[in-house]
Amino acid sequence: MEENIKTILATLDDIVSKASSAFDAVNDLSELASLESLYLGKKSALSEIKKELSALEVDSKKIVGEKLNVVREVLEQKAREAKELLEAAKLAKQIEEDICDVTEVDIDGVYGHLHLVTQIRQELEDIFLGLGYEIAEGNEIESDWYNFTALNVDFDHPARTMQDSFYLDTGENGSILLRTHTSPVQVHLLERGQFPIYAICPGRVYRRDTADPRHLPVFHQIEGLVVDEGIGFADLRGTVEVSMQAIFGSETRTRLRPGYFPFTEPSAEFDITCVICKGEGCRTCGGQGWIELGGCGLVHPNVLSASNVDTDRYSGFAFGFGIDRLAIMRHNILDIRYLIENDIRFLSQF
Ligand code: PHE
Repeated sequence: MEENIKTILATLDDIVSKASSAFDAVNDLSELASLESLYLGKKSALSEIKKELSALEVDSKKIVGEKLNVVREVLEQKAREAKELLEAAKLAKQIEEDICDVTEVDIDGVYGHLHLVTQIRQELEDIFLGLGYEIAEGNEIESDWYNFTALNVDFDHPARTMQDSFYLDTGENGSILLRTHTSPVQVHLLERGQFPIYAICPGRVYRRDTADPRHLPVFHQIEGLVVDEGIGFADLRGTVEVSMQAIFGSETRTRLRPGYFPFTEPSAEFDITCVICKGEGCRTCGGQGWIELGGCGLVHPNVLSASNVDTDRYSGFAFGFGIDRLAIMRHNILDIRYLIENDIRFLSQF
């Protein structure tokens, strides 16, 4: 064998051993990239030797050529292995760094807390539990019967249109929907046939409204229903006053204005004195001194009869109002959408 072939083969062995230890020792991906270019790149010793191949004799060319291929494969394999190891280590490190223990107290030792709407809901529940009410559970998916028909809502009532309610693509067309108010729970309670009824039902309701500073398509209401012997308008009046004072403070006054709901007769809208100006008149209440909060009335006889309640014996009242609306009023929050944006800077204030 020619002397210079021996030298070339020895050089190649030398490259393999140097490169192998370099690839084994590599610490990060950028270092690996430099090694790859050093040992496998266009200007590497391997490439130089390849260029010199053409000058060799046929036999020598074959020997060196084959050896070159083997060496290149070995080195490429080394580089691949190093890359896999480094990438795995990088991922493991990232996972380690990104770990977030959601059960852990945060770094300042501050715990998270219930959402403002949940806090107010619980406060309302406490107030009515204190008055001897039970807390009823309703369904968010209701049939037309519970949401409308049994509540004396006419077939041509605007709320029944596709524009106002979210209908589900199930059952007979237009028969199943997301409840548009918590009032369907009245029907469930009446159907149960156990009297007297003193119940509230807080929960989520859905309407096809575009979110704006005062509206959300998904919001919360609380429904109240009382059915007993001898219940009259004065009982409703007193309950509204007492419960609103419990929430907004004893200086709060309430007033009822004539209103209309198909499921109550007579019906009223109820207002509270403005929480900001206490009734003096300011920007929040539009100079009125009063803020509209909810609806109420005596349960319509048609509603009682639809659920086979003995109307000679029982009568009742119902009321309903928005919990989110109450939250923004009590805290003078200018835009109801803040409640659902999950901005910790906003939420942590309450
Ligand atoms: N369900 C009515 C609404 O969503 C509120 C209401 C409840 C009115 C009970 C009267 C009695 O606007």
